[in-house]
Amino acid sequence: MAVTSRTQVGIVGAGPAGLMLSQLLALRGIDSVLVENRTREYCEARQRAGMLEAGTVAALRAAGAGKRLDVEGLEHDGIYLQFRGERHHVNFRELVGRTVTVYAQTEIVKDLIAARLAAGAAIEFSASSVAISDVTSDSPVLSYVDASGVAHEVTCDVIAGCDGFHGISRPLVPGLSLYERSYPYSWLGILADAPPSTDELIYSRHESGFALYSMRSPEVSRLYLQVPADERLEDWSDDRVWSQLQLRFALPGWSVSEGRITDKSITPMRSFVAGPMRHGRLFLAGDAAHIVPPCGAKGLNLAVGDAIVLASALSDLLTEGSSTLADAYSDTCLSRVWRATHFSYFMTSMMHVLPDDPFDDLIQLAQLRYVTGSRPAATSLAENYSGYESPRFEI
Ligand code: FAD
Ligand code: PHB
Repeated sequence: MAVTSRTQVGIVGAGPAGLMLSQLLALRGIDSVLVENRTREYCEARQRAGMLEAGTVAALRAAGAGKRLDVEGLEHDGIYLQFRGERHHVNFRELVGRTVTVYAQTEIVKDLIAARLAAGAAIEFSASSVAISDVTSDSPVLSYVDASGVAHEVTCDVIAGCDGFHGISRPLVPGLSLYERSYPYSWLGILADAPPSTDELIYSRHESGFALYSMRSPEVSRLYLQVPADERLEDWSDDRVWSQLQLRFALPGWSVSEGRITDKSITPMRSFVAGPMRHGRLFLAGDAAHIVPPCGAKGLNLAVGDAIVLASALSDLLTEGSSTLADAYSDTCLSRVWRATHFSYFMTSMMHVLPDDPFDDLIQLAQLRYVTGSRPAATSLAENYSGYESPRFEI
């Protein structure tokens, strides 16, 4: 026999979307149960995003999870775009009056988990057999087996599927429209104990392929290399990684600072949007509904944006009995998601090299010259990168 209980919102997935939603709901007096199939340690160590829009920073502060971010986050005025041996700065602060902040997803997840647990919230890590049922009724059920083997059935008012791209929620929405684009390259990412030799991120287009210079702290660098889509990690020794990075970022009198590589992985590039993001009393948020290629740093920011919109919609639904925001949830999110999908596609297509395609080469060069030479074009890039139409959280 399963242990039965009740909550207002059942949440599947303790990534940024699920944790943020749980935290924002609590600030509005709404209780939730969060079920995650991985261990807490795994969730806190998974290397992913690092660049936050101004609106995401504001939302984390408003959620009471901004204390460490305010001390350790690295605020950047803009980014560098490098091509043909030239490095250009695009200054977001000057162009659109906004900045961006480097603060790793691992740290956001740690801060949000700590905030939830300190408030006495229920987070079930290491859950198995997670399932959702009755989403078209007024009492959908979230069931799972906890880490000690006990089965649970939680009756909810609403369930939020925040379980990422490979989760169980999206397949429960019938008649979904799916839009997808895959790219013929992947990113090989490393984390290294090396003080970054740049003050802000460098997006570099080089004939050998794209490279991104990012960071996690004044002591730790995060770097990425464009590699073929089917590349094997075993073929990339540390020496090969560093020599490609030096080549792709090369400028006279300047070099990438090297150090011990502590993490190395390959990520495929994909754009994917699924809609509607709601079926009955099941709402999808974050990567469960949409994925963007990481060039442009939108994925995590979109996930947090969905959580903000959903928290307001559920608060109106469950506290005021008004379904207006809940009914608009999918359209509200998808409008912002498609803008970010275009921007990520634009950045990806402008920076990555397609072998033996001289037409594409010259189109990219024309575009890079335009965004670094024209103030209106640079302003558009700055507006999108730093967060266009970021939703705000208001209690
Ligand atoms: P996730 O972070 O995927 O969280 C979903 C959670 O649900 C996970 O904890 C998962 O374990 C859990 N879950 C899944 N299935 C179940 C189940 N059946 N039951 C219970 N729990 C379940 N974005 C950027 O902006 N910049 C970047 O540089 C960047 N780099 C990335 C690198 C990689 C390798 C990947 C995969 C993504 C990257 N992204 C990046 C994207 C960004 O990390 C994601 O957009 C973000 O994690 C989305 O948050 P989420 O909460 O929606 O999903
Ligand atoms: C990162 O720091 O991991 C990062 C930053 C910007 C991107 C992608 C990844 O566009």
